[in-house]
Amino acid sequence: MTSYAYVPAKLVKHVRKPNSPVAVLVYKALTTRFFPSLPGHFCMLWVPGYEAIPLSIAYQEGAHYYFIVKKRGPTTTKLVEDPPRYVGLIGPAGSPIPAPSSGGKILLLGGGVGIAPLIYFATTIASYVESVTLVYGVRSSNELVELDQIFNVNRFKNVELIIVVEEVCERAVFKGTLIDYITVKIGDRLEEYDRVYASGPQTFLCKLYEVFNRAGLLDRLVLVLETYVRCGLGFCGKCTIPGTSKLLCRDGPALSAQLLKNWFAKICV
Ligand SMILES: Cc1cc2nc3c(=O)[nH]c(=O)nc-3n(C[C@H](O)[C@H](O)[C@H](O)COP(=O)(O)OP(=O)(O)OC[C@H]3O[C@@H](n4cnc5c(N)ncnc54)[C@H](O)[C@@H]3O)c2cc1C
Ligand code: FES
Repeated sequence: MTSYAYVPAKLVKHVRKPNSPVAVLVYKALTTRFFPSLPGHFCMLWVPGYEAIPLSIAYQEGAHYYFIVKKRGPTTTKLVEDPPRYVGLIGPAGSPIPAPSSGGKILLLGGGVGIAPLIYFATTIASYVESVTLVYGVRSSNELVELDQIFNVNRFKNVELIIVVEEVCERAVFKGTLIDYITVKIGDRLEEYDRVYASGPQTFLCKLYEVFNRAGLLDRLVLVLETYVRCGLGFCGKCTIPGTSKLLCRDGPALSAQLLKNWFAKICV
């Protein structure tokens, strides 16, 4: 259950490549009454002097919360360039990503900072599914977060990390967008995956919905959405997911694509 009081937290790690618009931040709660989270949960992170913004929890290890942040406006720019030593955290907000049943083949598609909730998810489900293919797509190499080094995703033998970059990059196994990767590299083999989870920019999620709709596989797809979030606590109603009666900060951010027919018609068409 969400606690409505801020948990004070101290910066313990800030990883950023020179001039990158993306950074990994680790904050440690300074109280023993910190909140536990599950993959898919996000928190409202309050930056003193700026705003409280929603951020996916990319990983949690005891009192340590991991975030991956991309510069958009004032608050995210502050976090990426000069993160404050102390912040406030409210959480866990939202609902966990619906877990797959045991034993299946799982495909995770994360675009940009949309990868954040999927890292946490991959490391949680790895112990009971057959395999996890984690495809991480970014526009340029300086946006790339070293997931294997920071989150040690390679410690799981059944988790395969595939890096897709739109420009030439030696770390990438494929040059193009995530949709290009699915079309060229997966193609008809999409049915081999028991569940597919995707998180990232809205245009990518719209295209993916179309691909799965055409293939008749919407029942296997879960999308992690973003809306404008204000209170993050289910009070204000600002985060209603278009075309549904669901609140992102209570029922989301992960929803089955089968529930998103009207969202698709309103947002994507
Ligand atoms: C559930 C959820 C999880 C998120 N997880 C991450 C994450 O892990 N990493 C990350 O970098 N970003 C994440 N975001 C997006 C992040 O919250 C926004 O980039 C941030 O609020 C922008 O704040 P700003 O002051 O820097 O920019 P602003 O100038 O306030 O806004 C820049 C852009 O962000 C959008 N935006 C602004 N405020 C919000 C808000 N409260 N909710 C959603 N969008 C907003 C605006 O519409 C605008 O397009 C998440 C958003 C949601 C809803
Ligand atoms: S942001 Fe979801 S109800 Fe206020």
